[in-house]
Amino acid sequence: MSASSAKTISRPAFAAGRVLSCVAVQADVFLLRLALDDAARPQPGQFYMLRSRPSGVFLGRPISVYRAIAPTQPVCGDDSLELEFLILRRGAGTAELCAAAAGSVLELVGPLGNTFPRPAPDSAKAPGAPARIALVGGGIGVAPIAGFASTLAPGSYDVYAGFRSGAYGLDHVVPARLVLTSDDGSCGVRGRLPDVLDAARLRGAYAAVHACGPEPMLAWVQRICAEAGVPCWLSLEAPMACGAGACLGCTITTRDGNRRCCSDGPVFAGDSVVFDQAPLPAEPTQPRAAQQEPDLSTTVAGVRFANPFIAASGTFGYGSEYAPLVEVGRIGGICSKGLTLEARGGNAGPRLIETPSGIINSIGLENPGIPHFIEHELAAMLQLGPVCIANLSGSSLQSYVEGAQRLDASAVAMIELNISCPNVKQGGMSFGLDCQSASQVTHAVRAATSKPLMVKLSPNAPDVTAIAHAVRLAGADAVSLVNTFQAVSIDVESGRPLFRNVRAGLSGPAIRPIALRMVYDLALSMAALPPAERIPIVGLGGIASWRDAVEFIMAGATAVQIGTATFNNPRALTDCIDGLQAFMQRKGYRTIEDMRGLALPR
Ligand code: FUM
Repeated sequence: MSASSAKTISRPAFAAGRVLSCVAVQADVFLLRLALDDAARPQPGQFYMLRSRPSGVFLGRPISVYRAIAPTQPVCGDDSLELEFLILRRGAGTAELCAAAAGSVLELVGPLGNTFPRPAPDSAKAPGAPARIALVGGGIGVAPIAGFASTLAPGSYDVYAGFRSGAYGLDHVVPARLVLTSDDGSCGVRGRLPDVLDAARLRGAYAAVHACGPEPMLAWVQRICAEAGVPCWLSLEAPMACGAGACLGCTITTRDGNRRCCSDGPVFAGDSVVFDQAPLPAEPTQPRAAQQEPDLSTTVAGVRFANPFIAASGTFGYGSEYAPLVEVGRIGGICSKGLTLEARGGNAGPRLIETPSGIINSIGLENPGIPHFIEHELAAMLQLGPVCIANLSGSSLQSYVEGAQRLDASAVAMIELNISCPNVKQGGMSFGLDCQSASQVTHAVRAATSKPLMVKLSPNAPDVTAIAHAVRLAGADAVSLVNTFQAVSIDVESGRPLFRNVRAGLSGPAIRPIALRMVYDLALSMAALPPAERIPIVGLGGIASWRDAVEFIMAGATAVQIGTATFNNPRALTDCIDGLQAFMQRKGYRTIEDMRGLALPR
């Protein structure tokens, strides 16, 4: 059998489907019914890329067709079609699809991929050869298997289906034999498919096996079919962007070389597929005290924070601005808006524009000046409860030093030295782009204050890890990274740059994976130092959820800052606290240190 002997059948289209209904058939499994106009009828095993309209996710999600039916009462026209999908709610994209309301519209690209080959007619079989086929489905993988079954003659196949809990997707199958398993015993045999099926049961009983399910299950089907000498067809799944064969994101390794799951598959001859034998990474710390309340506190530069969440400078004012909207007292810390010795009016012209998944800002460090902050803002900020951090910026070495001296005499708990603001012509980021100037300003500020000193780094430096070590050696107690990425926006009507300074600072979820990489790289290099020489890393850059925060902590961050996300959800910080607490409880992590750096090589 060749890896791509099944062919793509119908020409895919980019279409809009009207939701007829979407109902839960099991916890987290939904049956979605769509009406499509002028649609090519999909074949069993094919799939569509599905996405809500509008949607919060970027890509469609590949979903196998469960059933394609001509409507009993045509709703769209002669060529209309009703499609049914079984969808497992497992992430943001599938959650949107599962929440689709009747009458809403979904985007579809499809039908895509190849199809299960039909069993050979009896006339083509050798005398005495088995006639029946076995269909094997695991979890949501039962959908394409059941769709295929509904096109076969009743009783010409057996179905083996395994579920975690409760069966679904079997309403239209008419097998000679139906064997079910469930992890919890809620349907069929308590256990897994290997408890009810093996090579001995396949041998001589089946002409072929058609299977769909999670990869370990398919690898097992491949093995027992090989042992039994029964051909098998496996429907695989892989993360993909286009579904059309262009992105190469869903490559499957086969004995015939790389094949695209979307366009060469998803159905492959079982003996052609080479399953990844790489062992899964070891399970992280296992639950030890799942019932115990986790301790979210963390310590940065000798300062204890009730939890690792700090409001990032420039996104939370001086804290009291958000007090009516958020339980500010629950937050671990607040970094003030960037402060300079003297008051600054900030930049002229446009200061803010939304981008896909973020914003570009050109505020220009507007602030009332450090003396005013100390006299008029600090008392209220301290009153709020979270650790109070003053973000210190400057236009010259001298202004940084004088600012630090003023803050040293105040009640702020910590100074965040800002050498990364991209929006000022003098000072700001220019101090943070090379090791020498970063070291010089850190050294000077270190000498001017005994407050814990955290230096906020720029991702625009050619080597942010090198800058971090330069400021560490110059006396920084911690580093926070990253500030915004230099970006440009152009007004297409005027043909002119939007911002007067042309370049401005990009933040938000768009930068998160790059910021995470920078934190990871720094943590890696920090781990190579003797423990006494290491300094803590506070991660920031697009963090919007507890899950994002956990990624930064697992990359080695001791705490995290949340900035732009607050503009999208004023309660982002407190939502993150709740989410982290639930996550730690679920996983049995007792402290932040239990998770910190888990993703680094050990
Ligand atoms: O323009 C601004 O005020 C930005 C400051 C910063 O990025 O630190």
